[in-house]
Amino acid sequence: MRLCVTGGAGYIGSVVAQTLVDEGHDVTIVDNLSTGHEAAIPKGCRFVKGDIRDERTVIKALSQGIEAVLHFAALSVVADSVERPLDYFDNNAGGTLRILQAMKQCDIDRIIFSSSAAVYGDPDRLPIEETAPCCPTSPYGHSKLFVERMLRSCQAWGLRFASLRYFNAGGSTGVHGEHHDPESHLIPIVLDVALGKRKQFSIFGGDYDTEDGTCVRDYIHVHDLAVAHVLAIDAVSKGFSGILNLGSDKAFTVLEVVKTVQRVTGREVAHHIGPRRPGDPQALLASSKLAQRTLGWVKTCSSLEEIVRSAYKWRLEHPRGYSR
Ligand code: UFG
Repeated sequence: MRLCVTGGAGYIGSVVAQTLVDEGHDVTIVDNLSTGHEAAIPKGCRFVKGDIRDERTVIKALSQGIEAVLHFAALSVVADSVERPLDYFDNNAGGTLRILQAMKQCDIDRIIFSSSAAVYGDPDRLPIEETAPCCPTSPYGHSKLFVERMLRSCQAWGLRFASLRYFNAGGSTGVHGEHHDPESHLIPIVLDVALGKRKQFSIFGGDYDTEDGTCVRDYIHVHDLAVAHVLAIDAVSKGFSGILNLGSDKAFTVLEVVKTVQRVTGREVAHHIGPRRPGDPQALLASSKLAQRTLGWVKTCSSLEEIVRSAYKWRLEHPRGYSR
């Protein structure tokens, strides 16, 4: 198929784009490189450099017989969104509005959207099913939820969508890995401490109502996420529209992640308990049963051990990430 991947120079977008190219799809990437890396763009993709809020850029990317859009381009850091909410609404909600308008204009009626577990906020019950109430605790979560509502409304003109609510993406495929600047995500930060690139790190809160007082998250390997996207294109093409959780369905505290990194790397990780981070929910754990049933999705590498091991290998092989 002819597919457009927005945000295809980013962490998850580049892995999905590579998977699509490997499967024989014709892929156009649109990315403004504000957080992504040109070096992450898979070989064989057409690249339109520009911003999704810019109509000319989006029309240029979509006017070449594109049949479906995979939409990753977004600002995605929970705590950052608390500091600059308008940027998140502008990029994430405003940018998606521009894409949907262009899709309608170009007669493209299928979209796979990068949503997030952040839409749930602090859930009443774990594991979280797609029917759980959505009460985001951050502007980032609100921006993703707003887009989901836009997608539903656009079914009126024939749009079909899969909104994939990712839990915490991690790991590397060997070729592609996680490189944010500055880095704010737990696994790469803890690996940097293990590798001596940082002296120590702060655990954001030790007084949560969890097993050891630190936040609980569900870590899902980026390769397994990519597989779900390929299946989702097929499902949407056959008439599916809806929301699916993508997680490993296993929960780990921050301290358990630290211990896993220590075990995998064989190195100590210096850390201290600091204050809570604004916008952080206490605990997130997926039920991905619906995605497994709907898509036939089978996870093959989402144990925390495998996620950390592959991320560690990538960091050893790419000490400067995508920077030259
Ligand atoms: N954490 C620390 N210290 C750090 C960094 C993180 O204690 O230096 C903790 C956080 O408080 C949180 C956990 O580690 O409890 C994971 O934090 P990340 O920053 O790695 O990820 P988030 O859970 O904040 O968010 C990620 C994605 C979001 C997505 C969310 C879904 O960045 O885009 O997962 O669960 F919405």
